[in-house]
Amino acid sequence: MTSRQEECVRPSWSDDHLDSSSPPEIKASYFDEKLGAWVLSRYADVLAAFRSPVLVPTGAKGGSKKAAPNETIRLKMRAETKAALSLRQLYKWQKILTSEADALTQRLPLGVPVNLVEKVARPLCLTLAVAVTKADPKDASHLQSLARHVSAAAAEPYDTKIGASAEAANAELRGCFHAGAEALRDSGFVALSHTLPCLLANAWFALLAHPQQWRRLHQRPALTAKAMEELLRYAGLTRLLFRRAIEDVDLNGVPLRKGDRVILRIAVANKDPERFPRPNEMDWVHQGKGHLALGSGPHTCVGGSLIRMAAITITRPLLERFGWVEITGTVEWHGGPVFRSPATLPVCLYETIPVI
Ligand code: HEM
Repeated sequence: MTSRQEECVRPSWSDDHLDSSSPPEIKASYFDEKLGAWVLSRYADVLAAFRSPVLVPTGAKGGSKKAAPNETIRLKMRAETKAALSLRQLYKWQKILTSEADALTQRLPLGVPVNLVEKVARPLCLTLAVAVTKADPKDASHLQSLARHVSAAAAEPYDTKIGASAEAANAELRGCFHAGAEALRDSGFVALSHTLPCLLANAWFALLAHPQQWRRLHQRPALTAKAMEELLRYAGLTRLLFRRAIEDVDLNGVPLRKGDRVILRIAVANKDPERFPRPNEMDWVHQGKGHLALGSGPHTCVGGSLIRMAAITITRPLLERFGWVEITGTVEWHGGPVFRSPATLPVCLYETIPVI
């Protein structure tokens, strides 16, 4: 670790928390002396950063991302992943997931507390992770427990203890996957078995906070795909991304110098009224398109089509079967500055509105 990395201060914003009582403030870009970085939160500024070839992804502490590939290798990785995520292949995984999600949803009990994260999101995402990465199903729960450490460090990269257990888990995970596209091996397993349940927990928390919206989707579940785009905007998982300037550049009037660190507050940019007219409302008829929840530009998430397919396939049976869902207990949150989501989502499920 370099001295520059050690100086990195952990951002502590909470105005972009999904359960925050007030919406985030969209500020013009500024240099934060304490964080030692430029902070971008306007949609237009974050989008410009995504598109700029002189702003390269870095880790949260400013060092290069672990095993950051050179450009040729990265482009090869993207092409190889896209080929592995062909429509035909996505359709095969969707079939597996649909039958598992339908069966599991039918087994959920009515009118008693159920933790949606533990009972629905985690098992279904693990099924998908095993199918996609071709992991041995008998190793699934051990791999999932290793992946938990890696995902926790991605969410909270400033905690050295979490980082150390992630490193050990990562080393073991790397040795467990040998076939298929690089992005669909150990890192794909972590993203699918752990990060995806976090993404679903955020989306479901947002829907549960808007019971009328849940009911609208119950009545018209075919709208789930459209609603999911707006849920990604409104309740997307990733809060921050990090860049470093490799040359001097003027970014929408911000004079970046070579070596400068830049923090992209993407969850805040997704609530910018200049881009989304009613940013703090969920409105899948008029909003959602153009969100930055999975990045944008040359580094946009290469697993985006897989994530969307999975999020829709897992959520739709819940919307179809249950006309009314209530949070019944305390929602516990986990994660950190990079992503944060409900660790538990205790709910009571009803097929129709209960008569009290
Ligand atoms: C589960 C939820 C996921 C979330 C929230 C997520 C989010 C993101 C975001 C925001 C970026 C942009 C990073 C940047 O601009 O610096 C990204 C990039 C990336 N994602 Fe995902 N992702 C997810 C799942 C996956 C999966 C399943 C895969 C496996 C294919 C994947 C592979 C990648 C890769 C390889 C990149 C880097 C692309 C590049 O630099 O060219 N992601 N992801």
